[in-house]
Amino acid sequence: MKFGYFDDVAKEYVITTPETPWPWINYLGNEDFFSLISNTAGGYSFYKDAKFRRITRYRYNNVPMDNGGRYFYINDGNSVWSPGWKPCKTPLDNYECRHGMNYTKIKGEKDGISAEVLFFVPLKTWAEVQKVTLTNTSNETKKLKLFSFMEWALWNAATDMENFQRNFSTGEVEIEGSTIYHKTEYKERRDHYAYYSVNTEIDGYDTDRETFFGLYNGFHEPQKVLEGKPGMSVAHGWSPVASHYIEVELKPGESKDFVFVLGYVENAQEEKWESKGIINKTKAKATLAKFDTAEKVDAAFDELKTYWEELLDVYTVDSGDEKLDRMVNIWNQYQCMITFNFSRSASYFESGIGRGMGFRDSNQDLIGFVHQIPERARERIIDIASTQFPDGGCYHQYQPLTKRGNNDIGGGFNDDPMWLILGVVSYIKETGDFSILDEMVPFDNDMSVAKTMFDHLTISFDHVVNNLGPHGLPLIGRADWNDCLNLNCFSNDPNESFQTTENKTEGSKAESLMIAGLFVVYGRDYIELCNVLGKTEEAARAQKHVDAMIEAVKQHGWDGDWYLRAYDYYGKKVGSKENKEGQIFIESQGWCTMAEIGKEEGMCTKALDSVKERLDCEYGIVLNNPPFSEYVVEYGEISSYPAGYKENAGIFCHNNPWVIIGEVLNGNAERAWDYFKKICPAYLEDISDLHKTEPYVYSQMIAGKDAFKPGEAKNSWLTGTAAWNFYTISQYILGVRPDYNGLIVDPCIPSDWKGFTVNRKFRGTLYNIEVVNNDSVEKGIWVDGNKIEGNVIPMQKSSAVSVKVVI
Ligand code: GLC
Ligand code: GLC
Repeated sequence: MKFGYFDDVAKEYVITTPETPWPWINYLGNEDFFSLISNTAGGYSFYKDAKFRRITRYRYNNVPMDNGGRYFYINDGNSVWSPGWKPCKTPLDNYECRHGMNYTKIKGEKDGISAEVLFFVPLKTWAEVQKVTLTNTSNETKKLKLFSFMEWALWNAATDMENFQRNFSTGEVEIEGSTIYHKTEYKERRDHYAYYSVNTEIDGYDTDRETFFGLYNGFHEPQKVLEGKPGMSVAHGWSPVASHYIEVELKPGESKDFVFVLGYVENAQEEKWESKGIINKTKAKATLAKFDTAEKVDAAFDELKTYWEELLDVYTVDSGDEKLDRMVNIWNQYQCMITFNFSRSASYFESGIGRGMGFRDSNQDLIGFVHQIPERARERIIDIASTQFPDGGCYHQYQPLTKRGNNDIGGGFNDDPMWLILGVVSYIKETGDFSILDEMVPFDNDMSVAKTMFDHLTISFDHVVNNLGPHGLPLIGRADWNDCLNLNCFSNDPNESFQTTENKTEGSKAESLMIAGLFVVYGRDYIELCNVLGKTEEAARAQKHVDAMIEAVKQHGWDGDWYLRAYDYYGKKVGSKENKEGQIFIESQGWCTMAEIGKEEGMCTKALDSVKERLDCEYGIVLNNPPFSEYVVEYGEISSYPAGYKENAGIFCHNNPWVIIGEVLNGNAERAWDYFKKICPAYLEDISDLHKTEPYVYSQMIAGKDAFKPGEAKNSWLTGTAAWNFYTISQYILGVRPDYNGLIVDPCIPSDWKGFTVNRKFRGTLYNIEVVNNDSVEKGIWVDGNKIEGNVIPMQKSSAVSVKVVI
């Protein structure tokens, strides 16, 4: 069952009923000011950091779901309704929500009045703009009352939800003209405030929540809206809100626009005040002046659209399969940009107060957006590397506002350092900018102990070399990519977090085959980079370690039909036929086949066949099988989940592409494509009622075959799945892959595809690549008509070339 449709020309998903199986959301903003918005206008805004600078309040896990947002109420004399259906839930004659590239349009129509709201954050602006268009579609004059509404958060989203003895006494506002200023805590240490305004004279306002709603009323029945009269309340403590009241008269056919602006301002210490107790409003007024007419707003909206056209123009495909095209050209790339901005912090499953930026997560996210915004990828890599320690280990997470490593989470995840090689190499291959390697990068943000980025890569590589276990395989540390395989944790206390509790790594024999494969793949990248730089001695040194790792995997990491997953604390096998549960795991099959370890001996084919046989199901490849049915203290969190969810045999979509790439490298195009489609959201649109999450973006997890309801997804939006699937489809299946000295074209498509076209902008040249799948003609690659040797198209001088590829 579907709840809307894709409008590919507009690059929008159009939702046609407000009652989606879960709130289907979108993100506004792409640099400093951000908002989450659902298809019924729920959600919240923040500046840079969803924990420390929460601007509007949102209650997670509420009843009903998705309560709180930026709401408009219309009282037309007969009924009270909202253009987004919620919160009033008054039945509408028409409803439509269009989620587009960093904007959302919600339109409701009732009894001859149409209300359309366009929400977006203009480029380079610290504000969300809401353009409300009211139209009288009837034959008689309409008089109506429009109320806006949003609720302020008291800045720190965590204490906002717990420290009520203080919170109920701190709220402060100022009201000037049509602008409501939220200046809570501004008089002490804060140098920032927020405001909500509208570009017309208002007929009233409310800023105190209880006055507006009435103490015992919900969002759907604000007392002042029902009465049709504002309370003119001025908040002192309790819960400050912002609501404008506007009386509107519309002749038949007439339309009126209102521009609401929700903004954020920072002032220098000496410029904080206009006069005693009165905040300096200069910056707020400057922003308001930029958006005080509908025309100005429309122009800013056009700029945003152009910005996105350009971003999405770097890689486009025409495959003849509209579902694939809309994922590659629009939604998958869009999601990659969203994960770049938010890492794992704020979604409808991530509360914005839990996690900062992950070291491994951010490096992996990079492979999904580096082609779109290489300059920002460069900054990001340096930020990440700056949280490394001199021995190559690193903080597992850092806070975006301070860029400092997160002490609560600590480090010791032994896969983390290797991902830095992936990030840096991907950046250089995309841009050809080797200068990043000479950049001086601190350790633990301390510039006095900085080394070059290249040195950071060497110590990352050596971190694995220096932490090998009894079988010559990498010690796992706190955990590898699978945060829930906690082999050194041994927790018996439900009050401990598996992620942070003391680890018994001292004396542990716990080794990871996932890191082993990872080390071979990115170790080879490191060696290649050394060779490109002429550092042949270092390349030879590294090669010995990679070779030794390959041997160790073949000798101690093979279980007969697949690669083992790990050795536990005591040195016992994990992911083996010898185990009762958890006999086979996806991660080591993915990484060891990507590393092509034991390929000549048939290991890759066998391992991939075992994945097909034991882990594949209708909705994707599950993480492990059989699932753990009981808690295993020496395995940790993985065995805490019920069977079929998350790391315990869920379809953890992030790791499916590793197997897909393994299949590609092993030459099985049909299987690679089949796996790709199973988890790709556009192909799941028809089962949205089961799938539950947005059909335009990947979710972290789909319930596996052992779950209560296989196929049901959770944790949409912020997941490494976005980057890995875009990387896999664009670089391995369609096969257009940047390299140091050119663009590789090496597709691996099912035999019944006739071909496809890719347009790829790469270092200043537009490559128009036409791939033809034809057995009967000469194979090869022609660049502007000239046949080349091999599959690397050398760097071109002209601004556009046409490439023909026959496979
Ligand atoms: C989450 C984490 C990621 C981890 C994965 C598997 O997605 O963000 O770092 O690798 O779970 O446990
Ligand atoms: C949880 C999740 C895992 C995530 C980890 C990090 O345990 O299962 O996916 O990576 O937390 O916070």
